[in-house]
Amino acid sequence: MCKRKVAVVGAGNVGATTTLRIAESGLANVVLVDIVEGLAKGKALDIWQAAPVQKHDCMVTGTSDYKETEGSDIIVMTGGIARRPGMSRDDLVQTNFQVVKSCVEEWMKYCPDATVIMVTNPLDVMAYTAYKVSGLPKEKVVGMAGILDTARFRAFIAMELNVSVENITAFVLGGHGDDMVPLIRFTNVAGIPLTEFLTKDKIEDIVARTRNGGAEIVKFLQTGSAYYAPAAAVYEMVEAILLDRNKVVPCSAYLNGEYGQNDVFAGVPVKLGAKGIREIIKIKLTEDEQKEFDLSASHVKEVINTLKF
Ligand code: LAC
Repeated sequence: MCKRKVAVVGAGNVGATTTLRIAESGLANVVLVDIVEGLAKGKALDIWQAAPVQKHDCMVTGTSDYKETEGSDIIVMTGGIARRPGMSRDDLVQTNFQVVKSCVEEWMKYCPDATVIMVTNPLDVMAYTAYKVSGLPKEKVVGMAGILDTARFRAFIAMELNVSVENITAFVLGGHGDDMVPLIRFTNVAGIPLTEFLTKDKIEDIVARTRNGGAEIVKFLQTGSAYYAPAAAVYEMVEAILLDRNKVVPCSAYLNGEYGQNDVFAGVPVKLGAKGIREIIKIKLTEDEQKEFDLSASHVKEVINTLKF
């Protein structure tokens, strides 16, 4: 039987797919929470019924009652509305601000010690909201964005070069998606700099496609946004935390002077372990990179300033 427990808030596509990945990894029991009780119960039961075939004993339950999240090691927040074609992530902010506030208040009653992984968009702003409303230490609130943006970037590079995705190492910083800052000088193919393989223009094309990676999928799906790759990125974070791996990954973190920014969440390299962010890794950015990073952080701040706490 699994000893660890993860609560996934929001039984939409990202929440359900994340639940499936965690349970099938055998890492933790999962409680799927949604205000629409039947949705959480139905999807949880369906996932649990696959357990005998998938050969794991992680219990999956669905509920609308936060009491059942009691004792969770991690809360994954996916609740809120998703984008439709033509919408930016920022268009979701007022609705999702209310959703995040009320969910945080609920889960803090039962899981005051859990580490929180934020997934709800606009990601960096919602991570800031959860941090402020929960009163948790900054190490315990971490946003999922960089791993997803980096995965998209790596996938596109691998496609272009016809090499294994595993050969591509990359780092994407800054706000999620449109504002991301890919660090090309840290992007390599089996240790060989990307610039040895691709022209500047080709790299720019791939960066543009990556920035637009979420919107490209929204446009195809019409009725919602991506969930397989987002859930995979969340899973990597859950695993790093539960297994205390000290994994270096790009995540959205509260900045308190790091990278020249204060009182804002943005994507930076962090060491992720048992209690969340063990360390924000500081690297010296070039002048251009710092400019892009500052611009990205200022966009996050602009949206934060529209909220009434
Ligand atoms: C995306 C959403 C999850 O980038 O923000 O697909």
